[in-house]
Parts: sequence; C-alpha cells; structure tokens
Amino acid sequence: MNQQDRIGEITAPLLHWYAKNKRVLPWREDKNPYHIWISEIMLQQTRVEAVKGYYARFLERLPQVEDLAEVGEDELMKLWQGLGYYNRARNLKKAAEMIAGEYHGRFPEEYEELLRLPGIGEYTAGAIASMAFGKPVPAVDGNVYRIYTRLFADGSDIMQGKVRKRIREEIKAVVPEKCPGEYNQAWMDLGAVICLPNGAPLCRECPIRTWCLAKERGDMTVFPVKASKKKRKVQDRTVFLLEYQGKYLIQQRPEKGLLAGLWEFPAQEGRLSPEQLRLFLEKWNVDADGVELLGSGKHIFSHVEWHMIGYLVHLKQMPQELQEGMVLSSVEQIQKKYSIPSAFSLYLDEIFSRKK
Ligand code: ADE
Repeated sequence: MNQQDRIGEITAPLLHWYAKNKRVLPWREDKNPYHIWISEIMLQQTRVEAVKGYYARFLERLPQVEDLAEVGEDELMKLWQGLGYYNRARNLKKAAEMIAGEYHGRFPEEYEELLRLPGIGEYTAGAIASMAFGKPVPAVDGNVYRIYTRLFADGSDIMQGKVRKRIREEIKAVVPEKCPGEYNQAWMDLGAVICLPNGAPLCRECPIRTWCLAKERGDMTVFPVKASKKKRKVQDRTVFLLEYQGKYLIQQRPEKGLLAGLWEFPAQEGRLSPEQLRLFLEKWNVDADGVELLGSGKHIFSHVEWHMIGYLVHLKQMPQELQEGMVLSSVEQIQKKYSIPSAFSLYLDEIFSRKK
C-alpha cells in the first residue's frame, strides 16, 4: 500500500475515534472564529490545562475582536502574563486592528486571507479556516508530524522545511470536505492522549494502530526525527531584588528582543559572588543593610536558557539616581500593573511570600 492510500485509509477510523473520545474544551463550544483564534494562539506554546484559565479571563475582558483592537498595551501584557512569547499577544492586537478596520469586524474566512494577518502562519490559518468556516484545509502541528512519521516509520528530519511541506501536502490531499475541522482536531487529540510525545505512546488504545509501521516494528519512540535541532545557548544571570521600605526596584526591558517591553528585576550576566555583588553596589553608590542569597532558577526560552541566581538586597537609602526606565514599585503594583514574565517567577514568589 502506498503512503497516499494509507493516509486516506485512516480518515474513517480516526473520525470515528474522535466522535467518541473528543476532549471537552471551552474553545470547542462554538465555532466563533475569534474564540478559535485566541485559543489557537494561546495553545501554540502552552499546555491545554494551563490555557483554560487564560482563555476564560481574556474573553471575559475582551469579548469581541473590536475590544482586542482597542485594548492598551499594559493591560494586554497583564492578560498574557505567564503565557510567554509575548509577541504573540502583540500580533493578536495588530491582527485585531486589521480585522476591525479593513474587514469591518468580519473575520476573513479564506485560508490565504487569514495568512496575511500578523501572527497567523500555515497551522493557525488552517485551524481557523477549517474549524470556524469548514474549509477543507489541514492544520498540521507537532502532533501531526509525530503521528505521521510514526505511521510511516518516516525518519526524515522534521526540522527541515521541505520535509514539513511534503507532509502538509500529503495531508492536504485527504482532508475530508464534509468535516475538516473535526478531522484536524482528531489528529490533535490523538497526539495529545494516545500518540504521546515523550515516553511510550498508548498504542493498544490507538484507532489507527493497524496502519502504523512504527508500531509494527516496535520503534515508535524513534520518531519524529529532529536531526538539525540547534542546542540552546545557556546564559548565567544574577538577578537583583533591590528592596527599599517594602518596595522593589524594577525596570522595563528594551523594546526589541527577548521579553521586549516587559518589566523585570535588574539583572546582570554571569554569576556574581557575594564579593562581586558588594563591589557592584559600591560602584552604584548604594549602601545595603543586608544581603540574602536566594535560590537558583532556570528558565527555558526557545533559543536560550537562563540559569539564574538571585540576591535580595535591603537598601539603606534610595540610589541617588535611578537608571532610566527604573521604578520603585510596591508589591501590589507589581501584582496589578506591571507584567513581570514567568522567567522571574521564583523571585516574584519570594517577594509575594515576604509580604504576607
Ligand atoms: N492544540 C492546539 N489546538 C488545539 C485544539 N483546537 N484543541 C485541542 N488541542 C489543541
């Protein structure tokens, strides 16, 4: 049997399985494209369980695409705080402005039009077009590449664009006209609950196991092959919690690059020893009433890892001059107003627990 036949043959058992086993999820309650879009963007880097709360809060505050087009940057960042990859939220707003303006609030229905919107790539355009508008286009994400390469015991490197394109095209040819949204979500659910990424997939419960070559050979976990994946760069950093009268100095990150425009505790590259910290404070011309070494934290971004240590420094007096963009903020304001990303969650927890 050739690949195209095999991929076509699994459609019926896959849909049958999905009809019985589909997960009940808030963004599946209706076919509103705005709802589907927001959920898909949130789900790009975040687990389903973690997204649910963000999704509900986001839509409660911004129920219509026009509300998103008009929301202020600070509030948007606050709604997104903890989800990571903050440019996703900025692109959502830019796209909402286009939909509210150019499209007079009506969501574009065609795959090609959706692709023109900021932050919407092939996967998301396919997901919205198929799930909200019933267009027969695929939505191929990591789940699908994993299931597909196992199904065919295909050892091609899925980090290569041309390999992913080939897989997308093969699947595009068999998306059922009648229920493309269900079909695409069936792949997603199969990937999420049966054909699991790490550890052993639950092949005994899989509706398409009799078609699966990797299962036949017993080497399911070999796939997908990601040969050209670059190693992440590790950066050591020292984070300073500079406290003065129960308030903390925080600063805004540069407008470009990692965590652009978000707030953070001041930090420096490298792991400063207590002696180096003392010299640093001297140079900055501030006296400390005491210094505490906090735990070490790790945060993984797509291309870098931060390995952090932290110092809590009780300042005797305010520094004469604050560096540009730095503010002294109460803990309440940090909670309500400033978006400090979860890379700093260990240190945020530290100041929240001290306040109690
Ligand atoms: N992951 C990405 N999109 C999803 C969806 N619509 N349902 C479940 N999991 C998903």
